Amino acid sequence: MSRRFLSVIAAFAFLTISAFAQEVAATPPMGWNSWNHFADKVTDADVRAAADAIVSSGMRDAGYIYVNIDDTWEGDRDASGNIQSNKKFPDMKALADYVHSKGLKLGIYSSPGPKTCAGYEGSYGHEEQDAKTYAAWGIDYLKYDQCGLVDVMEKESGGDRLKAFAIDKAAYEKMHKALVATGRPIVFSFSQAGWYDVWAWAPEAGGNAWRTTGDIHDNYARMESIGFSQAGLAKYASPGHWNDPDMLEVGNGGMNADEYRMHMALWAILAAPLLAGNDLSKMSPETLSILTSKDVIAVDQDALGKQGDRLWAAGPYEVWAKPLSGGAKAVALFNRGELASPMTLRLKDVGFAQGAKLRDLWKGSEVEAKNGQVTALVPSHGVLLLRVSPQ
Ligand code: GLA
Repeated sequence: MSRRFLSVIAAFAFLTISAFAQEVAATPPMGWNSWNHFADKVTDADVRAAADAIVSSGMRDAGYIYVNIDDTWEGDRDASGNIQSNKKFPDMKALADYVHSKGLKLGIYSSPGPKTCAGYEGSYGHEEQDAKTYAAWGIDYLKYDQCGLVDVMEKESGGDRLKAFAIDKAAYEKMHKALVATGRPIVFSFSQAGWYDVWAWAPEAGGNAWRTTGDIHDNYARMESIGFSQAGLAKYASPGHWNDPDMLEVGNGGMNADEYRMHMALWAILAAPLLAGNDLSKMSPETLSILTSKDVIAVDQDALGKQGDRLWAAGPYEVWAKPLSGGAKAVALFNRGELASPMTLRLKDVGFAQGAKLRDLWKGSEVEAKNGQVTALVPSHGVLLLRVSPQ
């Protein structure tokens, strides 16, 4: 075979792989994940109930498609090394069929290490076999959690940071190749807490999304510190490739409604995956309305695929903006302070002339700018989220 022919084939393969990556996550993945609420207690019945509730609540129609089982589904391997689910998940294929029958997709979790974060069986040394098993079950999303690989990285690198990084990256690439080889479109989500500036290399290692932080918890201080730490990462996101500041806590009870609205608005500005983490079968109308706001979801899911960033901060007051298609922008005025406070946005500071159209996305109403600016009282731990569009 000529060299030229081989390079044409290689270029074709690369394009196919890139197209594949974009196909599965052209906009940030949306769905639900079992961890934040159910943690290690999650069962087949919980996942079915989540799928039922996603449909009956209207969340599926709002865009929440992936139903993702997190850690603790894993059982032992059989004599041929095939991973089996444990007794909490008696039949993974049947579960996938059920989830698919609802017009949803099923996600699963594993680790590149011998063990997962919760100490269950990881994929180390079984990558191709596990990818094939997932595809045969009908899995559509894999969260791949570094945890158990850290020991391997330490041992094999002898403490050399560059070597440890190379081991980490190779482990993710290995699973990416194994997933592609199955021929099934599977979203590949890296979960390694942002180690080695993962955003800089995850796209070439096959990541559709990558965790940029440690775990979120259902309290304001943790959500705030994770969310606002994302400033500066916008340039690493693009269709098919998303920064992931962890899953949503909306509705889990540890924050008030203003705080959950800030959480949701910030994640939308960040073009973050929107993976609800609450018990969907017991949702208050307020939780549902925060999770399903069409206007806010549209910010996250905008087809331009650009992540937003911080424009300025003064004490606890911050303005962030996200470019949207059609020349519009989502602009968020965040009040991280302990008191409600008036905040002012001058249209020219976000690149708009007087006469631009403004919409308050949480209220769903038009806002009128006077003399090229808007002032509003923003609640403590709250947000004014605007869509600004050219006249
Ligand atoms: C890590 C991840 C969490 C969750 C747990 C499961 O902590 O960051 O999101 O998947 O592992 O053990």
